[in-house]
Amino acid sequence: MKTILKLAVSLCLFVASTSSIAASNQSSENKDWHTLSNYQQIISTHIHLNLEVDFNRKQLKGYVDHTIKKIDPSVTTLAVDTRALEIHKTEAMVDGQWKATPFEMAEPDAVRGTQLSVEVPAAATQIRIHYNSRPEASGLQWLTPEQTAGKKYPFMFSQSQAIHARSWIPIQDTPAMRVTYTATVKTDKAMRPVMSADNNPKRSPDGVYQFNMPQAIPPYLIAIAAGDILHKKMSKQTAIYSEQAYLDSAAKEFEDTQAMIEATEKLYGDYLWNQYDLLVLPPSFPFGGMENPRLSFITPTVIAGDKSLVNLIAHELAHSWSGNLVTNATWRDLWLNEGFTSYVENRIMEEVFGRDRAVMEQALAAQDLNHEMKTLPEADQILHVEMQGRDPDDAFSGIPYTKGQLFLIYLEEKFGRQRFDAFVKTYFETFAFKSLDTPSFVSYLHKNLIDKYPGVVSKAEINEWIFKPKLPKNAPQPKSNAFKLVQQHIDNWLASKSSLADIPTGKWTIHEWLYFVNNLPRDLSIERMAELDKAYNLTQSTNNEVAHAWLLLSIQREYDKVNNRLSDYLISIGRRKLIVPLYKALLENPDYLTYVSGIYRKARPGYHPLAQGTIDALFKEAKNK
Ligand code: BES
Ligand code: ZN
Repeated sequence: MKTILKLAVSLCLFVASTSSIAASNQSSENKDWHTLSNYQQIISTHIHLNLEVDFNRKQLKGYVDHTIKKIDPSVTTLAVDTRALEIHKTEAMVDGQWKATPFEMAEPDAVRGTQLSVEVPAAATQIRIHYNSRPEASGLQWLTPEQTAGKKYPFMFSQSQAIHARSWIPIQDTPAMRVTYTATVKTDKAMRPVMSADNNPKRSPDGVYQFNMPQAIPPYLIAIAAGDILHKKMSKQTAIYSEQAYLDSAAKEFEDTQAMIEATEKLYGDYLWNQYDLLVLPPSFPFGGMENPRLSFITPTVIAGDKSLVNLIAHELAHSWSGNLVTNATWRDLWLNEGFTSYVENRIMEEVFGRDRAVMEQALAAQDLNHEMKTLPEADQILHVEMQGRDPDDAFSGIPYTKGQLFLIYLEEKFGRQRFDAFVKTYFETFAFKSLDTPSFVSYLHKNLIDKYPGVVSKAEINEWIFKPKLPKNAPQPKSNAFKLVQQHIDNWLASKSSLADIPTGKWTIHEWLYFVNNLPRDLSIERMAELDKAYNLTQSTNNEVAHAWLLLSIQREYDKVNNRLSDYLISIGRRKLIVPLYKALLENPDYLTYVSGIYRKARPGYHPLAQGTIDALFKEAKNK
């Protein structure tokens, strides 16, 4: 224990200096609206968590110690974010001793939660907050044994991005801030906790585990999971953590992870986080993946058996540079995080799997963006989107991801790979372990690329990309030759110039299949649907993305043969991206209301609170129509 504390103290001296730079960069007008903390007056530079995972009560309980550093010497309180937390007592470390200090909870805010203010005595170096989370914490999911693959032990995991860390840790919850952290976590002996920190592959006999994250990270990257979790090493820097059920299949599916790390290092500089492990979660995990440092959280729905969906791993790994190293200062700057990551993801895919596949993935993403754009109000088509007063989870659309990616592809094409790659690499180095906002990025971009090579791209063009809705007219339009052929086959079949037997599907990759299903006309007849299903057995596709595309079309065309498969799919998968569009399509048809309500009744208890929230809102909207 002593050595951990010593190490922690020496590290935070180092970190304190970098965090204070990041914090002082933030003048009050560009303060992060989504935090109620006073991070511009005082910051916590290091936190220590001492928590017990209580599966019976569905709560984490214990305390958090904040090592504090005053920016404004006159500050007398530490204000932190909380949401639905029970606060028991607060203490301050003064002259080497913990002493009780008063605290106050403000009125809750609908989006941001409840501000907790703790009085800071003049000589205090740390603040300790004793608390527990509630079972309904927005950032935690508690699974019963039946909801796991092994069916024997319960499972829990956190999802802190965007502003859910505050539902399990009282913390200054803004990406403008960075902390190092250590943790002592106790759980049932039969289970194991893991964190976004250094994980010990060995299980502890007494159920108590120590963690250390020596690099300063924004609070949304603090993560925990616990369950019957096993370990399997893949390569020198990579391993799988998961229930027994996924251990071997995941290790096979994701065996190229080490090659991905090395490819990214070649492009953008060293991987700075030592280990890169993957935690494969139960299927109710609401996302594809989450880039928790040193331990990305991954949905099992991408274990397809043929590596066709491993761009997800490239994506979460890419965040080790964009996002985790160079972070968006506020949630309106999300595109700096997800746009760069989508771009880097695709560059990794090109390095490891070749240009053809990378371009196919670009083209599929661009098509999705074009469809989604039609449903988005103009204000939400802007990269530097206004988020004040809104839930930051609503900022996650194809805009920050794919419009952001297309902008970077545009710059790459204009300046050439050599210059653009050098620019991105230096950008990551310059802002490593810092947070920046869009205006700071724009001035860096002008200084280091646009003005350096004059006459290539104008200021007005940059402004249009970042501050205006729609896609600029000269935006890149990724085109894949393989898809051109698929399109010809679709057209010929529809024009009855050829039959399905003439289409050489035997050699198709999943990407060609996805293009095929996505580009079938939305008014396809039931007979044609049945013909396709008979030839290709699409209803039973074991690829979750292809199945998703086919189920979506089937709902729109009222092709009822999929109904059993559809309810199985919705009940067994909790990944929002795969299920929400299906619920949306079902709810658009009033005739399906009873059917979809029946499915949701069965499926809802297995979904993450975030997915429940999204889908509850869809039902409410449909019933009010
Ligand atoms: N950081 C996101 C996950 C996320 C999304 C957290 C929304 C909070 C709110 C992660 O890196 C991500 O983008 N995941 C995608 C992966 C895909 C683009 C390859 C996903 O989950 O689908
Ligand atoms: Zn991402």
